[in-house]
Amino acid sequence: MHIFTNAAELRAYTETQRAAGRRLGLVPTMGALHEGHLQLVQAAATQCDEVIASVFVNPTQFNNPDDLRLYPRVPEQDAALLAPAGCTALFLPPVAEVYPQPTMLRFDFGALEQVMEGAHRPGHFNGVATVVSKLFHFARPHVAYFGQKDFQQVAVVRQLVADLSFDLELVVYPTVREADGLAMSSRNRRLSPAARAAAPLLYQVLTAAAAQVRQGLPPAQVQAQALGYLAKAPEFTPEYFELVNAHSLQPVAQYTIGQPLALCVAAHLDGVRLIDNVVIE
Ligand code: PAF
Repeated sequence: MHIFTNAAELRAYTETQRAAGRRLGLVPTMGALHEGHLQLVQAAATQCDEVIASVFVNPTQFNNPDDLRLYPRVPEQDAALLAPAGCTALFLPPVAEVYPQPTMLRFDFGALEQVMEGAHRPGHFNGVATVVSKLFHFARPHVAYFGQKDFQQVAVVRQLVADLSFDLELVVYPTVREADGLAMSSRNRRLSPAARAAAPLLYQVLTAAAAQVRQGLPPAQVQAQALGYLAKAPEFTPEYFELVNAHSLQPVAQYTIGQPLALCVAAHLDGVRLIDNVVIE
């Protein structure tokens, strides 16, 4: 596995691969890799000739300085996991390589970012769109792989690719879960044993709410009950629980036949902010 810390060197490498007719897959990550990331890498390895993974804790997408400071960083462990999963090139840049100067460009995703993560983390999607655009330019992939756990991020990146005509295919894989249902996340490493024991409640509340939606319980009631359960659990401080249109991400006040739906939640658990979602077919 090649390791690049320099964007120009990565681009020279990927240009050579493209010129040789090889299909390139990119898996952008912030490291502290888990099985969810590795499944993306494995999928890319079966579909592409070259798999580039980036490990970069992107400062511009953090609105909370403590969250940025405490975000787990284990690059050696990440590199050791990536090669056996099929990664052929790792991009591990320092911050100054990605941001040689402060960016002035600002992204505005309109209604897509005025809800949920966008509403609670001002500037978050501007940072995501900035770094993802840069990674697309550096790696020039034919296919880019994302996990559905970051449901709103996927919608924003889809819009970014469409609006800026990035010539690539987006592939989204389902959330990978621990045996007890907790969505895999790099932030899970920061959970205390007590918080980790309580954490599966998030997915339990989501699945119970999804069952209520399927039974036709009014959206406001579904939301109130879910938030009530989370608020009663002493370890949790819920931030939002939303039933949204799975495409527009706008809150759903009443059901319409054929409308794609998703339930999305964010909660703080012993100082760690977790998100999760379920899509309702
Ligand atoms: O999903 C993530 O880990 C990050 O938001 C991403 C896409 C790597 C951009 O920093």
